[in-house]
Amino acid sequence: MTDKKKLYARMHAQAEGLFEGESDPIANAANLAALLFMELPAINWAGFYFLQDTELVLGPFQGQPACVRIALGKGVCGTAAKNRQPLIVDNVDEFAGHIPCDGASQSEIVIPLLKDGVLLGVLDLDSPQLARFDQFDQDGLKSLANLYLKRTRL
Ligand code: SME
Repeated sequence: MTDKKKLYARMHAQAEGLFEGESDPIANAANLAALLFMELPAINWAGFYFLQDTELVLGPFQGQPACVRIALGKGVCGTAAKNRQPLIVDNVDEFAGHIPCDGASQSEIVIPLLKDGVLLGVLDLDSPQLARFDQFDQDGLKSLANLYLKRTRL
């Protein structure tokens, strides 16, 4: 197993422990954001946006204060949410419509939160490194997002 796979396997076990006996969506999102921020190298923002009508609204996160509302289809988050597909951006400066929150961010990954086919929000991570996120990150984060959705009352 690669180091990255091991790291995600360990985080999955840690998240299982954090969610044990708890189904509150804010509490579990806050703990998952903290876990991601603590464990993943070269990350400057990790957190949630939850869908309210046609907008994503800021949820629990770690990192610098961020924009509160993102319309579906806007920015990296709104694009991933609208397409219901994970999105990796190697260089945010080359993504038309990227919404800058922390000037240090250079690359970004967004995982849509889909429960029974219903879009509930996104998990968003930023890095101060170019091309920080790859398929292993996408798979690992998707698995953590699915665990969150399974264990949490939403
Ligand atoms: N960069 C995001 C906005 C959210 S922050 O990165 C926390 C976007 O373009 O949607």
